[in-house]
Amino acid sequence: MYEQALKLKKLMEQKKPPTEFDKKVKVYCVASGKGGVGKTNLSVNLSLVLQNLGKNVLLIDGDLGLANIDVVTGLYPKYNLSHILTAGKSIQDVILDGPKGISILPGASGLYELANISSSELEILIKSFNSISSIFDIIIIDTGAGISKNVLSFIQSSHEVIVVTTPEPSAVTDAYALIKLAYKHCDTINVIINKADNYKEASFTMGKLAKAAKKFLNIDIRYLGFVLEDKTVLKANMEQTPFLIKYPNGLASKCLINITNKLLYGQEIHNEGTVTIEGWFKKLMSFIKTNVGAL
Ligand SMILES: Nc1ncnc2c1ncn2[C@@H]1O[C@H](COP(=O)(O)OP(=O)(O)OP(=O)(O)O)[C@@H](O)[C@H]1O
Ligand SMILES: [Mg+2]
Repeated sequence: MYEQALKLKKLMEQKKPPTEFDKKVKVYCVASGKGGVGKTNLSVNLSLVLQNLGKNVLLIDGDLGLANIDVVTGLYPKYNLSHILTAGKSIQDVILDGPKGISILPGASGLYELANISSSELEILIKSFNSISSIFDIIIIDTGAGISKNVLSFIQSSHEVIVVTTPEPSAVTDAYALIKLAYKHCDTINVIINKADNYKEASFTMGKLAKAAKKFLNIDIRYLGFVLEDKTVLKANMEQTPFLIKYPNGLASKCLINITNKLLYGQEIHNEGTVTIEGWFKKLMSFIKTNVGAL
C-alpha cells in the first residue's frame, strides 16, 4: 500500500504542469437493467484498452454486489473514501494501482453513507479529488445491476452511459427501462450487446432496442458493438486476471478493442471531458443527497 501511494504521488508530480491545472475528465457510467450481463468484465477490460491507447483511466467500483472489480482483477482494497475522513488516509492510499497502469477507486458504492457529511468534511473530500485533478483523462464507473438510487446518481453525474445487455429478451426489456431513465441525464446513450452468439444476433438485438428508443422516447441510441460469448472470459475470471491480459487474442478481447476504438474515435465531434475531477465529485455528491429519499 505504501508503494501504491508512492506510485500515485510520482504520477501526480510528473503530470502537474501549470497548463494542465484545470484538466477535464470524461465520465462514462457502465450500467445494465438485468444483473450478470458482463458490466464488470467490460468495465475493467475497456479501461485497459483505453489506457493502452494512451489515456489515463480511473476505474470506479460503484457496485454494491459481491462479484466486483476485485474478483476480476485479483486486487483486494483495504480502504475506501470514508477512510479519508475517519482514518486520516489520503486519496492516494485509497486508489489502487491496477493492471497496465490503470487506477482503481474501490468501494464508491458506500458513498450513500457519506450523504449526510458536514460541509467541511465534503470540502476535505473535494480537496482530495483536487489533488489528483491533473492525472486522469477518463473515468469509467462500474455500477450494480438495475435502477437503484446509487446507480441513478452515477448516471446523473456522467457524460455518457454505456448500457450493457445480452440478447436475452428479459435483459433487453430491462435495458430499455434503464435507457428510459438515463436519456434525460446523459449526452449519449451507448449500447454494448454482450454474450452474443454471432454478429447477426447482436445486430437484431440492437435493432429492437433502437426501434423502441426511437418510437417511444424519440431518441437515437449509439451502437458501440458486440462481444461474443467466449469461454476466455470465464477462464480469465477464474484466474482473477482481466481477459484482455490473459487472452489478448481471444474473441472477447478482439471484440472489445473494436468497441473501444468506436467509443473513442467513432464520433465526429471529438469527445473530450467537460468537468474537472473534483467538479464531477461535487456533482455526484449533490445527486446523492437529492436521491437519498428517491426510488
Ligand atoms: N462475453 C462473455 N462470454 C462469456 N461469459 C461472459 C461474457 N461476459 C461476461 N461473462 C460471464 O458472465 C458472468 C457475469 O459477468 P460480470 O460479473 O462481468 O457481470 P455484471 O453485469 O458485472 O454482474 P453484476 O450485475 O452481478 O454486477 C461472469 O461469470 C462472466 O465470466
Ligand atoms: Mg458487476
